[in-house]
Amino acid sequence: MTDNSPDRYGVMGYPVSHSRSPVIHRLFALQTKQNLQYELLQVAPEQLETAVQQFGRTGGRGLNITVPHKSEVVRLVSDMSDRARSAGAVNTLIFEDGEIFGDNTDGVGLMSDLQINLGLELKDSRILILGAGGATRGIVAPLLAAEPRELVIANRTLSKASALADHFSSEGPVGACRFGDVRSMPVYDLIINATSAGLKGEIPPYPEEAIQPPTVCYDLSYGLTATPFSRWARKHGAAQSVMGWGMLVEQAAESFKLWRGVRPDTEPVLRQLTISAT
Ligand code: ATR
Repeated sequence: MTDNSPDRYGVMGYPVSHSRSPVIHRLFALQTKQNLQYELLQVAPEQLETAVQQFGRTGGRGLNITVPHKSEVVRLVSDMSDRARSAGAVNTLIFEDGEIFGDNTDGVGLMSDLQINLGLELKDSRILILGAGGATRGIVAPLLAAEPRELVIANRTLSKASALADHFSSEGPVGACRFGDVRSMPVYDLIINATSAGLKGEIPPYPEEAIQPPTVCYDLSYGLTATPFSRWARKHGAAQSVMGWGMLVEQAAESFKLWRGVRPDTEPVLRQLTISAT
């Protein structure tokens, strides 16, 4: 007799109730006819190791890892991909033969959204990243791989931006500065908000002179209504102000592909998710 019970997946975070991952992965499973279930797993930091191991021991096949566990979970994996090592963070776990493999699909998810969904040409472009925390660390290498002319990391705390710029200096032209030292020329083609300020309802003194008529602004955060950064970008004349819904769906599709061997069509899922967010 064959076992028809669904394969188990889930997302671990703290808090996690706001996560859209269950709905996204259920839509992917329906679309690709995969027999799986996907749960929300609220796990406090001190319970992370036990919860991950228990999930694997009881037959779980894969997990997404979200805030605040992405860096901490690195020490729980048996092995991880080069891109997860470079990001210093894991957002996808694969459980196989008693081993835990870690990967990170955030960077590739962002690149798919920027280059495919939004059709941006990043080669020879000028890119400004605001913020120098974990989110920035995960996107610098994939952005540099697209061969921009220049990538600048601007941060409230200069030392953190400088440390990241040094860390990635062998991979491309990357510099660092304070928000107040961002220049208006040459024009930035793309500004990415990777600070966590919006999540706390704060609007830092973002450098408004960096926005020129052709500049596209992209917020890694997303919401049903415009995020503080996307409102700020629109107010200061950005050509486009985009929230990170596309990155969310694209990183999920890459995780799904790692687990199931099939990459879902993201377009209808993205449309469904953002219908009430425009
Ligand atoms: P991590 O991902 O490392 O846990 P975090 O503490 O959430 O990071 O912060 C992520 C980024 O958002 C950092 O660059 C942080 O700036 P600092 O390095 O100066 O702390 C930035 N950030 C968070 N709140 C901010 C605010 N109110 N104004 C400016 N930057 C802010």
